[in-house]
Amino acid sequence: MNTQNKINIGIIGGSGYTGKELLKILFNHPVIGTIDIYAQSSAGNSILDIFPELNGSMDDIQIKSINNLDYAADLFFTALPHGETLNYIPRLIAEGKTVIDIGGDYRLSSSELYKQWYGFEHTSYELLKSKVYGLADVLKDSDYNHDLIANPGCYPTATLIPLIPIVEQFSEEIISISTVAYSGVSGAGKSLKPDLLFAEMFGNVKAYNLNKHRHEPEIVQVLQSVGLRNKPYSFSTHLLPITTGIYSTTTIHLENELSQNEVETTIIEKYSSSPFVRIRKTPPELKWVLGTNFCDIHVSVGPKRIILTSAIDNLIKGAAGQAVQNMNRLYSFDQTTGLLPSRNSIPLLYEENVKTEQ
Ligand SMILES: NC(=O)c1ccc[n+]([C@@H]2O[C@H](COP(=O)([O-])OP(=O)(O)OC[C@H]3O[C@@H](n4cnc5c(N)ncnc54)[C@H](OP(=O)(O)O)[C@@H]3O)[C@@H](O)[C@H]2O)c1
Repeated sequence: MNTQNKINIGIIGGSGYTGKELLKILFNHPVIGTIDIYAQSSAGNSILDIFPELNGSMDDIQIKSINNLDYAADLFFTALPHGETLNYIPRLIAEGKTVIDIGGDYRLSSSELYKQWYGFEHTSYELLKSKVYGLADVLKDSDYNHDLIANPGCYPTATLIPLIPIVEQFSEEIISISTVAYSGVSGAGKSLKPDLLFAEMFGNVKAYNLNKHRHEPEIVQVLQSVGLRNKPYSFSTHLLPITTGIYSTTTIHLENELSQNEVETTIIEKYSSSPFVRIRKTPPELKWVLGTNFCDIHVSVGPKRIILTSAIDNLIKGAAGQAVQNMNRLYSFDQTTGLLPSRNSIPLLYEENVKTEQ
């Protein structure tokens, strides 16, 4: 932090979809000083040229080339295509900087998993081990003592928040777990992909990356760390003809009956002091969370099974918003700083201080 107690920020990959949401949040954050934006093809442009819709809501900033990275900022957010951050993060850490990586290059804990799921050789093994996996609603304050935070993926965030307390509390009862999840197309970033053209996706739904989605080992790794042992887990992903949002439905088959009350109470207790997790009495809808850092969850207990549903905004709770929540926790600010909508901006959907519906 600088002498005026403001944090100077560098955003590497600031001209992409997650970078834009990060800028919107940081520009209204009370302790942010300067913001440097680095990118590749858009370097030399100004950020308001790239995102004209931000005109009037933030100052213009010239985008710098990633090839001319300087190390002036205190805290760097990285939001690059996978594999690219390996070129920058080790040097940033060596320069004494703090980094929050929104991409996937440091989320897994073993280089073998990177070879298997990402198809590249991981070159900074030590940082893979020493980073913290930043699922912000689950971490303790004492976990925030690392220079590198690997911000979780969007599907893992939506899926793990309701699932973790169930595995922690009832792992002996679990026979198998299966997640079916859906994403809007902004989850793939802004670079041109023919299968995501409007003409391909409008009015359409399709499964993709079956048995090879990179978020599967991320989810499994966390479930194992909270006590899941030798139980089958399956994960399938689908694209929806919408821009934004993640919807995740997880079915857990059980050895014995559990009651709605004991399962729901387990989740409520886990998140009693988590301002961004809302436990709903009906399955959440995407429109309840879009534009927010909330994760809305619902649990339904049936005969020897639990069905969990959850919804998030992939670009906010699944990326930029959670990254700022992690920054807030890292610097011991109130974790909601800069992340709650103003009363005027979301009059219908935002429910202040509501943890459970009546
Ligand atoms: N989209 C989501 O919902 C989401 C959610 C969670 C995590 N993530 C992760 O966050 C990261 C960024 O995602 P995004 O959706 O913001 O992607 P994006 O919209 O495609 O933006 C990518 C950014 O990286 C820059 N870039 C592209 N190729 C580069 C290269 N070879 N070297 C250096 N910079 C390069 C781009 O600069 P130019 O614009 O100048 O080319 C742009 O600023 C990815 O790792 C993604 O997996 C995304």
